[in-house]
Amino acid sequence: MWSNRFARSFVSVLIFITILLVSCQEDVYPTDNEQLSHEEQIVIRFSHVVGENTPKGMAAVKFAELIKERSNGHVEIQVFPNGVLYKDGEEMNALLRGDIQMIAPAISKITTLVPEWSVMDLPYAFKNADEVHTYVNSDVGQSLMTKLNAHNLFSMGVWDSGFKQFSNSIRPIETVQDLNGLRMRIMPSDVLSEQFSIVGAYPKRIDFNTVFHQLQRGNVDGQENTLTNITSKNLHSLQDYLTVSNHGYLGYLLLMNHEFWNSLPEDVQTLLIETLKEVQEWEWQLAENLTAERLEEMEACDCIKIYNLSDEEKEEWESAFEPVYRYYAENYGKKYIQALPKNQSQH
Ligand code: LMR
Repeated sequence: MWSNRFARSFVSVLIFITILLVSCQEDVYPTDNEQLSHEEQIVIRFSHVVGENTPKGMAAVKFAELIKERSNGHVEIQVFPNGVLYKDGEEMNALLRGDIQMIAPAISKITTLVPEWSVMDLPYAFKNADEVHTYVNSDVGQSLMTKLNAHNLFSMGVWDSGFKQFSNSIRPIETVQDLNGLRMRIMPSDVLSEQFSIVGAYPKRIDFNTVFHQLQRGNVDGQENTLTNITSKNLHSLQDYLTVSNHGYLGYLLLMNHEFWNSLPEDVQTLLIETLKEVQEWEWQLAENLTAERLEEMEACDCIKIYNLSDEEKEEWESAFEPVYRYYAENYGKKYIQALPKNQSQH
């Protein structure tokens, strides 16, 4: 009787210890990554709207590969290019809802939430990408970054696409007056709208993924974009004239929803930030190289007439766009304009 009771207790203790051991073991990540369950893996869905052969497209893939390798598969960045998951006008809300965890929208598109960011859209605000990077890292740039917090956004860095050029199918654009009357596609930014309105053109806000069709249907005459974006969507095949004006910067903020960012373990946050720092440097160089390559290809293709603005012409264009600066200052204050590199060197 006594020995029976002892045997039952002994078996119960044994079962308890076995359960304890098994449950403890489940907290340890398997070394074979293929065996990680969905609960164990951190999945970051990164959605963007451009092709894989652009600086943003290639950097997103590199970032995903490095993170997978460095986290032993514990963190997986799934990249969705070309707006396959969410289109231009949809990705920001999808990020804020938590349906995706990372986006890299053009800064012009962030201006609908934080209009002060449209300082980056001002024509001839920056001479080159180095000036942009210095500005974004300055106190004023960081105060722009801080404004994102109020919208539950966390910025992890800046990637370049490059500088924008004009293309159209009506006439060569050599002077600002040549823009008069043209219907031009723009990204959603009041400053970009103003840039075209003050010279008598008609700006139309159109999602990136439909620009090709809108040009094809003749709903707009032209557009402005970087050479890597123009060629990746074959926009130049529909246009007769390209003006290499380098009149405005197009770059991206790498954004996460703040809540999601805060939910990540500290070591994962560090891994993401450190890796992004490295990828950011790589992406900046890539954007510069790819832009030069695309220009060479367009010059060689004989498929579009190219006009290069001289330095003197660029200065004339910059003065003609002065009212856009006034528009910005009246609406969002002078602080961000005064801090632009070109205004700093005058002191
Ligand atoms: C555009 O809409 O032209 C760009 O923002 C696309 C991009 O993401 O580079």
